[in-house]
Parts: sequence; C-alpha cells; structure tokens
Amino acid sequence: MSLVKRYPDIHPAHYKVGAWAWLAHRISGIGIAAYLIAHIIVISTAQAGGASFDGIMASLQTPLFLALDIILIGVIVFHMLNGFRILLFDLGIGIRQQKQLFWGFTGVSVIAFIATLIFILPLVLGRPLV
Ligand code: HEM
Repeated sequence: MSLVKRYPDIHPAHYKVGAWAWLAHRISGIGIAAYLIAHIIVISTAQAGGASFDGIMASLQTPLFLALDIILIGVIVFHMLNGFRILLFDLGIGIRQQKQLFWGFTGVSVIAFIATLIFILPLVLGRPLV
C-alpha cells in the first residue's frame, strides 16, 4: 500500500489551513535564513575592494533585485507574525482557534506589508509614490 493511501493527510490535495500555514512557515523560515547567508557573502565582498563592492551594489539596485527585496519584506512580515501565532500556541493560547488566528495574523501581515511599502517605496524610487 502506498504511503499516500495509508496516510492520505500527507498529500497536499488534503491539506487544510493549518497544514498550509505549517508549510508556509517552513518555506519562509528557510527563505529568510538563505537570504541571511547570501547577504553576509555579498557584504563580505566589500573586503575585496571598493570597485568590486560598487559593481555588486549597482546590480543589487536593478529592478529585479528591488522586486526581490520587496518580496523578502513580505516573507519576513509573514514569518514574524505567523511565528507570534505559533508562540501563542506554545503558551497554550488559541490552539482551538488556530484557523481564525491564521487568517487574522495573515490579514495583519498584509496590512503591515502594504504600510511598509508605502513608507519605503519613495525612498527606493527616490521620488514620491504619486
Ligand atoms: C520576530 C521574528 C521571528 C519570529 C517571531 C519567528 C518565529 C519562529 C517560530 C515560532 C518558529 C518555530 C515554528 C514551529 O516550531 O513550528 C520558527 C522557525 C524558524 N524560523 Fe523563525 N521567527 C522569526 C524570525 C526568523 C528569522 C529572522 C529567520 C532567519 C534568519 C528565521 C528562520 C526560521 C527557520 C529556518 C525556522 C525553522 C523552520 C523549520 O522548522 O523548518 N526566523 N520561527
């Protein structure tokens, strides 16, 4: 008997909110950790001399990397707020309301993400948004 037949819940088609939240927390955590490692590697290139650092900084300011930066902010805000939700469960708070808390915290994440964008985009673009 296949593993999926024996344990149908492990197939993504059967995932409910809690399982998707669990998976999203893993992916966001590993994504932020990978970014941190890449960030340290890039910053350490400053030691190779000003010219190589300036070159890397110039490519990091292209629209592609700015878009990735914006996605990174969203991922961090999600991981932080969903992390607070998980910490509440560790304290025995809200376990039976985990689904509602997921949507509540994700809603707050979206609002915090948009507020952050309104604040930082003018700094990134060097001009007011509108
Ligand atoms: C205020 C900020 C943060 C909060 C509240 C938070 C919260 C948490 C919590 C509660 C867990 C455990 C999840 C569980 O046991 O089910 C976790 C896992 C994790 N976090 Fe964070 N975190 C934060 C920031 C970060 C940052 C900055 C990084 C990366 C540099 C990070 C990377 C990870 C990773 C890799 C995991 C493990 C994922 C896994 O188990 O596969 N977190 N976080």
